[in-house]
Amino acid sequence: MNLSSFTAPATAVVIGASGGIGAAVRQHLEDSPVFNDVIAFRRPALDLKDEDSIRGAAASIDRPIDLVFVATGVLHTDSYQPEKALRQVDPQAMQDVFAINTIGPALVAKHFLPKMRKDAKSVFAALSARVGSISDNRLGGWVSYRASKAALNMVLKTAAIEHRRSRPQSVLLALHPGTVDTRLSSPFQRGVPDGKLFDPAFSAGKLLQVIDHVQPDDSGSFYAWDGQPITF
Ligand SMILES: NC(=O)c1ccc[n+]([C@@H]2O[C@H](COP(=O)([O-])OP(=O)(O)OC[C@H]3O[C@@H](n4cnc5c(N)ncnc54)[C@H](OP(=O)(O)O)[C@@H]3O)[C@@H](O)[C@H]2O)c1
Repeated sequence: MNLSSFTAPATAVVIGASGGIGAAVRQHLEDSPVFNDVIAFRRPALDLKDEDSIRGAAASIDRPIDLVFVATGVLHTDSYQPEKALRQVDPQAMQDVFAINTIGPALVAKHFLPKMRKDAKSVFAALSARVGSISDNRLGGWVSYRASKAALNMVLKTAAIEHRRSRPQSVLLALHPGTVDTRLSSPFQRGVPDGKLFDPAFSAGKLLQVIDHVQPDDSGSFYAWDGQPITF
């Protein structure tokens, strides 16, 4: 992994390093010659539902951060599954999905963006999902997950506008990793065409290539693993 658009020795933060994609991103960064400092957070040290833990995690970092990669997210738990129809919408489940997929990353941005490097390229990237694209929604279903990712995209776009005022070389991104073989996708892999279910290491490598290529003008955008932009 090259990542030569960043200034060595660089510092990366991976949030959700226990996840399928998060663990693979962490591994790639640790193997890269540019990032000599890779700080990984996971529960319980950083819980997206506990702002104090997010504040504390950010405060524990005493050097400028070059890359924050937010690899957390939820689609289903032991208590709920994504809705097949509107009649299945449950307020508790929907609140939980928003707490993890939207509000948590917004709080991570709130506490980590002020710690980003000012004098060179920096990237704050969060995993969204193509199904969060409003213009691309042809199938319906998965109301809470889709809505939480569309709202996440808006959080990132809004934060990008504010953040570029103090850090003109910053890039904020929403990323779609493809369909990746993890705990999150495991109940939904049956219809995936051959060759389209990615290994986490493959997806993580592609996402880091996208991160390496983006420029400040791309800030606030939504990109897929293959570098193609996705319309909101
Ligand atoms: N896999 C796919 O096909 C796919 C497709 C499109 C988008 N995505 C997106 O990619 C992201 C990562 O998914 P994945 O496939 O790698 O899933 P995963 O293996 O299930 O990882 C999810 C991660 O989120 C963390 N997390 C959940 N709730 C949390 C909380 N309250 N506080 C802190 N961390 C929390 C989990 O931590 P614990 O280990 O503590 O539970 C885990 O590290 C998600 O945003 C997902 O929407 C995935």
